[in-house]
Amino acid sequence: MSLEQAKQVAAYRAVDEYVKNNSIFGVGSGSTVVYAVQRLAERVETENLRVTCIPTSFQAKQLIIKHNLILGELETNPEIDVTIDGADEVDFQMTLIKGGGGCLLQEKIVAACSKTLIVIADYTKDSKKLGDQYKKGIPIEVIPMAYVPIKNKVISMFGGQIKLRNAIAKAGPVVTDNGNFILDWIFSDQDLDWEVVNKSIKMIPGVVETGLFVRMCKKAYFGQPEGTVVER
Ligand code: 5RP
Repeated sequence: MSLEQAKQVAAYRAVDEYVKNNSIFGVGSGSTVVYAVQRLAERVETENLRVTCIPTSFQAKQLIIKHNLILGELETNPEIDVTIDGADEVDFQMTLIKGGGGCLLQEKIVAACSKTLIVIADYTKDSKKLGDQYKKGIPIEVIPMAYVPIKNKVISMFGGQIKLRNAIAKAGPVVTDNGNFILDWIFSDQDLDWEVVNKSIKMIPGVVETGLFVRMCKKAYFGQPEGTVVER
């Protein structure tokens, strides 16, 4: 089975188990979520479901529109029943690294408005400790003018290395859906208290959000190479 098929089985399982009729559904971002929206569209068609979809990114909004699903917004739907999203890494405490696709801010806002956050991923994202699998570090969304002082401050507090995320080599920095830059913090200490780290980094002026999701995720579905799904 390919990695894409592993993503698909996880996504289908989560949508089948968690999305109900007459509900508000948060649509995460990334390649695995594509399968979740595909499955939701099938279920809306065959089961005549009414589900209002709240996007976490421009990509998610485009997916909702493409599949003719009901597009909602937090202004009118501030309480979401369930959000299904991807992750770059999930540890044994259900702490997530998110933001590989640069959508961490809206993903965290939508997750925080959700009664339930479910992660869907292939088996490569399943990790004992953060950093075991995902080597690109923790994304930090920052106000552009502050990226250098924030970079220096994070390194002085917690060590490691930080790279400004670039769009394509030498073409300039990635600009998020919110007009900000992303720093990727390659941490060196895997035994940090991620709740403390998250709070401390968020206190630095100019930091908008981190890709650390601590105590937010209820359940994760990992698609396996042989086509089964492991739940945590
Ligand atoms: C985007 C994200 C994605 O959910 C995360 O990067 C996982 O993506 P994929 O499903 O493509 O592996 O956090 O900001």
